Amino acid sequence: MLPIFGSLLLLFIFAASFFACCKKTPTRKSEPREEQHGDIFTVLGFNGRILHDSIIEATEDFSSDYCIGSGGYGTVYKAALPTAQVVAVKKLHQSEDSLLLNNLKAFESEIVALLEIRHRNIVQMYGFCSHPSHSFLVYELVERGGLRMVLSNNEQAKELDWEKRLNVVKGMANALSYMHHGHSRPIVHRDISSNNVLLDSDYEARVSDFGTARILKPDSSNWTSLAGTYGYIAPELAYTMRVDEKCDVYSFWVVTLEVSIGNLTSLERLFLSENSLSGHIPQTYCNFTYFQLSNNHLTGPLPDNLCLGGVLTRLAVVNNSLTGPIPSTLRDCKSLIRVRLEGNHFTGNISDAFGIYPNLDHIGLS
Ligand SMILES: *[C@@H]1O[C@H](CO)[C@@H](O)[C@H](O)[C@H]1NC(C)=O
Ligand SMILES: *[C@@H]1O[C@H](CO)[C@@H](O)[C@H](O)[C@H]1NC(C)=O
Ligand SMILES: *[C@@H]1O[C@H](CO)[C@@H](O)[C@H](O)[C@H]1NC(C)=O
Ligand SMILES: *[C@@H]1O[C@H](CO)[C@@H](O)[C@H](O)[C@H]1NC(C)=O
Ligand SMILES: *[C@@H]1O[C@H](CO)[C@@H](O)[C@H](O)[C@H]1NC(C)=O
Repeated sequence: MLPIFGSLLLLFIFAASFFACCKKTPTRKSEPREEQHGDIFTVLGFNGRILHDSIIEATEDFSSDYCIGSGGYGTVYKAALPTAQVVAVKKLHQSEDSLLLNNLKAFESEIVALLEIRHRNIVQMYGFCSHPSHSFLVYELVERGGLRMVLSNNEQAKELDWEKRLNVVKGMANALSYMHHGHSRPIVHRDISSNNVLLDSDYEARVSDFGTARILKPDSSNWTSLAGTYGYIAPELAYTMRVDEKCDVYSFWVVTLEVSIGNLTSLERLFLSENSLSGHIPQTYCNFTYFQLSNNHLTGPLPDNLCLGGVLTRLAVVNNSLTGPIPSTLRDCKSLIRVRLEGNHFTGNISDAFGIYPNLDHIGLS
């Protein structure tokens, strides 16, 4: 954990030593936004040349050697400053194409949101620089990077035991609760996903990437274009385009599912029927005996290793939107007693899928 004292010190050093280098660019294409956010570049009272120069120096002018990832509208670099602090820098993709304006909008949204919030489970912004050639944000470096990466790395995933996983979920819940209810104007993130939840060295969660964030104001419209990551967007919002706290709550559940069944070999029973889960069912590698996900909005194929442990007795994925063939790995799954696959869009050759099930007493495929 970056000590609070260290963060404050760093903030202080920034505040004390940086003067206006990165001026607000005088001409902007979008007038209303300019009006609304016109002051953000001066709020911190710094954003100066020293920060700018030391970051360029530390990253050797944003050399790919220092790249640690990419988030939304920018590339993220690791920069060791002369003050001995190591920070993460997200550099806005700047180019001549039409995406530019959207990137700029995301950049500004992120600054506006992060200026407003401060919470131990939300990534901390130290400063930013807006300049025609380099616009970037400076954050605390969150050591372990994205939750998705940690979950997909066998060693790290093992290290992330139940207690730590629960703590990650709690941290996310605290951050969301703070954003939604912690102050007068709720902030909706709109792109909560396992990519945007970072883990520090103690596996404490930090919600990041506020490029799509919106502050809900009583006097402004709550309707917008769609934002977010496929699989994490609540289906009803995908159609209505309404922004409210529910967007984040839904995505939160998808991440929670990922954290809890990501790659655990010990889980035996999974009951998540009658929810609003969407996205693909993670490729689980488990000794499931019960696997029940009926009445959700799940898409994609049914994982093909459900019977790998040879102990699956009840499989029910009724009323989802699953596609693809029924995995041939279920063929001759001798432990099966009940199989319910109705209400999906499975395709393929049924004689490839089914074999001999000595214990089967019910199969539903309508
Ligand atoms: C899950 O864990 C198993 C056993 O440790 C490993 O073989 C497999 O590759 C992992 N799967 C993923 C998707 O990480
Ligand atoms: C937008 O949402 C906020 C917070 O939920 C609410 O207070 C406000 O009335 C809504 N605005 C409109 C125009 O519906
Ligand atoms: C299933 O469980 C057995 C012991 O109960 C274990 O040895 C085996 O590795 C597990 N298989 C998988 C795929 O997790
Ligand atoms: C699936 O949906 C249909 C129609 O909405 C409903 O009648 C049925 O009870 C559902 N199946 C289950 C197992 O809930
Ligand atoms: C379906 O699979 C069976 C067994 O693999 C094969 O004999 C049959 O030709 C296949 N039918 C079609 C239409 O592909």
